[in-house]
Amino acid sequence: MASRYHEVYQGWKNDPLGFWKTAASEIDWDSTSDTVFDPDQGQYGRWFPDWECNTCYNCLDRHVERGRPGQPALIYDSPITGRTATYTYAELLEEVEALACVLSDRGLQKGDRAIIYMPMIPQAVMAMLACARLGIVHSVVFGGFAANELATRIDDATPKAIIAASCGIEPGRVIAYKPLIDNAIELASHSPECCLIYQRDEKPADMVSGRDFDLGALQAQAVAEGRRIAPVPVKASDPLYILYTSGTTGQPKGVVRDNGGHMVALKWSMSNLYDIQPGEVFWAASDVGWVVGHSYICYAPLLHGCTTIVFEGKPVGTPDAGTFWRVISDHNVVSLFTAPTAFRAIRKEDPEGKLIKKYDLSQFRSLFLAGERADPETVNWAIDQLQVPVIDHWWQTETGWCIVGNPMGLGKLPVKPGSPTVPMPGYDVQVLDDAGHPLGPNTLGNIVVKLPMPPGCLPTLWNADQRFFDAYLAEFPGYYKTADAGVIDDDGYLSIMARTDDIINVAGHRLSTGGMEEVLATHADVAECAVIGIADKLKGQLPCGFVVLKAGVDRDHAVIEKELIGLVREKIGPVAAFKIAITVERLPKTRSGKILRGTMRQIADGESYKMPATIDDPAILDEITDALKTHGISS
Ligand code: COA
Ligand code: AMP
Repeated sequence: MASRYHEVYQGWKNDPLGFWKTAASEIDWDSTSDTVFDPDQGQYGRWFPDWECNTCYNCLDRHVERGRPGQPALIYDSPITGRTATYTYAELLEEVEALACVLSDRGLQKGDRAIIYMPMIPQAVMAMLACARLGIVHSVVFGGFAANELATRIDDATPKAIIAASCGIEPGRVIAYKPLIDNAIELASHSPECCLIYQRDEKPADMVSGRDFDLGALQAQAVAEGRRIAPVPVKASDPLYILYTSGTTGQPKGVVRDNGGHMVALKWSMSNLYDIQPGEVFWAASDVGWVVGHSYICYAPLLHGCTTIVFEGKPVGTPDAGTFWRVISDHNVVSLFTAPTAFRAIRKEDPEGKLIKKYDLSQFRSLFLAGERADPETVNWAIDQLQVPVIDHWWQTETGWCIVGNPMGLGKLPVKPGSPTVPMPGYDVQVLDDAGHPLGPNTLGNIVVKLPMPPGCLPTLWNADQRFFDAYLAEFPGYYKTADAGVIDDDGYLSIMARTDDIINVAGHRLSTGGMEEVLATHADVAECAVIGIADKLKGQLPCGFVVLKAGVDRDHAVIEKELIGLVREKIGPVAAFKIAITVERLPKTRSGKILRGTMRQIADGESYKMPATIDDPAILDEITDALKTHGISS
């Protein structure tokens, strides 16, 4: 079948407002108006500014009212605990309403913020939906972040409540969340009024009297009493959530997502991009702490009347590299969305795909990859093993949904390995030089999106309009700066080559090297430091820190390096995967004092490099090469 993509994309270009107005008809609105987009509101305009809606109603109630009450809405599959559970749409709505009652009883209401700090358990999704039901703005914090990161988010979002579980479970260890929360509250200037803690058998938490409440017990009581609570209408442009993501400093950026545009974009994507029918089972093997988890574990599958899967496990080791195939087969998953690193991990354990053959994957239709570059070797292995289309697509926390992809629902376009294919309707993607001039095909430059951004994308940063403007809109007036560099070929296919800032991508997780440098610099023995991302076969990139010690420090370097590794783990969290710290005499710099991080990365990755013309002392590069070799990183 010929793809309808070009016709649909051109249709959007000819009439963008008409395009999104039609897409908006898939959503149930409390009220609408003639204004689809107001260019004068906000930083670059606002979508559906005066329309009113409720995201939870669209995810749950309308499916219960219209034919899906008995269909599974959420399947919990937890190989790490051995538990499974299924909630129909009617049951999930009942639980969400009960949780919303608990929030309301604690005085939370429309416009308040709540931080959700939970592992991959159904209560995480229930908490998100309960907030959405009452117009409470949620901010989910990934469990792998340390207390310090949680404290930063508490101070920025100033939540009235923290909704958490007593623990998370990683292979081989149970992580008590409560001490992290208590520590974070102590570190933060803002104090939430209450903590609602879901007690897990693996490690129940000690509760602070008067502040901490047993979420599970209160929710169960509300269910037993048959308590219900109506969805609260909010403006389409009101915030649904804040999701913090790495910026160029240790201060994360609070990406704001609105209600209306978000629903319109996600609903459109389910049929047109992912080619999923309501009633089917869609599985995003990510975490609710990341944007993929927000959009494609929680909101999009439910908006579309699908069954979503909450998977508490890892692609390998829980118990083996066949877990993904077992889940697909057990629950009739038609489409899986994950990060390439998960497939690299599976391939490493089961290179011949022996475990795949143990399971019936006859319902499985497609694999979608995002979060980092999909290397053609991994993609080809997945195609060979699974015999289904493997679709790379590119997006960011900021956009909330795909920028460039291969729209399976419009008819698959030919795949070019290494390219996530073409822009989705809504995105006018261009490549500019550093001065902002358009570049021709096949020329590497800054990838930008012509304003306005489509529905679903961030309208601003939480309480930081100026930072939003400075970070995204200032450098290329009239465009959103993606901070990715790439090329567009003669057929309009985009390839992403690198970030233009200090963000690195570790196992599909986005991390700021600047943030890690800020932590290293706090060590009493460190005079200066530089953190770079070096290539890693499994995780894509790994952080590697170089430190110069203060004059007169004569402690064992190995001890200091261990302390530095511990410091990053303590301040940022295990998710930073910071395991390489190298002491050097000097850092390579330009004559004006700029650290040559790019050249250091090229040396570490064994790439050929040109001696920077402005280098202060070329001999330092040999010192870096030797230091890397001593630490087992040979170039
Ligand atoms: N809570 C607490 N700690 C966590 C955590 C969580 N939710 N998630 C990860 N961590 C810890 C890990 O236990 C690990 O700790 P360690 O240093 O003590 O081993 C550390 O953070 C690094 O985690 P990760 O980078 O995920 O490595 P891993 O070795 O545990 O797993 C993969 C490797 C490839 C299996 C895993 O990264 C993966 O499944 N990646 C998919 C990524 C993904 O879904 N991205 C979302 C975008 S689609
Ligand atoms: P995050 O905000 O965590 O989703 O990370 C977004 C960044 O991850 C992007 O800016 C890219 O650098 C990278 N990324 C995401 N998807 C892809 C992809 N399909 N190909 C290449 N890089 C990607």
